[in-house]
Amino acid sequence: MTAPLGKDLLGLESLSGDQIRLILDTAEPFKEISERAIKKVPTLRGATIVNLFFEASTRTRVSFEFAEKRLSADSVNIAASNSSVSKGETLVDTARNLEAMRIDMVVIRHGASGAAQFLAERIESNVINAGDGTHEHPTQGLLDLLTLRDHFKRLDGIKVCICGDVLHSRVARSNIWGLKKMGAIVGVCGPRSLLPNAIDDMGVTVFNRIEEAIEWADALNILRLQLERMQGGYIPSLREYNRVFGVTRERLDRVKRDVLILHPGPMNRGVEIDSDVADGPFSVILDQVTNGVAVRMAVLYLLSGGKPELAEAAKKGGER
Ligand code: CP
Repeated sequence: MTAPLGKDLLGLESLSGDQIRLILDTAEPFKEISERAIKKVPTLRGATIVNLFFEASTRTRVSFEFAEKRLSADSVNIAASNSSVSKGETLVDTARNLEAMRIDMVVIRHGASGAAQFLAERIESNVINAGDGTHEHPTQGLLDLLTLRDHFKRLDGIKVCICGDVLHSRVARSNIWGLKKMGAIVGVCGPRSLLPNAIDDMGVTVFNRIEEAIEWADALNILRLQLERMQGGYIPSLREYNRVFGVTRERLDRVKRDVLILHPGPMNRGVEIDSDVADGPFSVILDQVTNGVAVRMAVLYLLSGGKPELAEAAKKGGER
């Protein structure tokens, strides 16, 4: 059976709008499985999946693990710190040894941009990028799109501003590609030192003031300041950043309409986002996390060769 997404999911830049729509539509029937008392369908029974995480993760790793278990796949988690990578084994040698044990898919998070593609070109198993350096985080982009579509009932024509540390953010890149392919209008806002030089060529509107971005947008996707990727000198201080670019209740109250609030997590409360915004009535931050499981179930299912129309049948097959 030909997989509708091809062999791997490496980023949203390489997907068509139709393929993105297919993933979002396939995620819809999978949402309900997580609401059941027994959260399991037999769809991927017999498949073996390795979650290979070379960087810290809470949401993505657990979400993939739940998605795999809810589809009845057998999965194992490997962290770089407790694998033979810590003894100097290469990424490809690690993956080839895992393939010798007859695995079907690898979910990889890695600090190097391009690591997922590098691996995908060297192993036969399906590879899913769970975040590679500052390049892409496609399943985060997809769950953000699903959450926006749930709220606005469409993506075409909605105005989404990505705020903060765009320079270091793989989430920003996947969002920009995904949103534009689905017809959304995209803005970015942050200090010039935290915007990529190529931002003017990406077909987005650049806002230098957060007040203007809030005035313009239907939704804000607020990014974490990635302090671990900064060598210093990007911003004067966290306090100054919050004062000038923080998304605060006061700033939101100045516009007389609802602005939807997204954040991929983990959040720096009181830096890029204030707590009363993160926990406020227009926040869909936890809905993003919930949707992450359904999106990852859809990706696993489609990469394994599943036909979209069978997703509904797969759901019915496990109903109890
Ligand atoms: N959004 C996200 O990737 O979170 P984690 O780093 O916890 O996986």
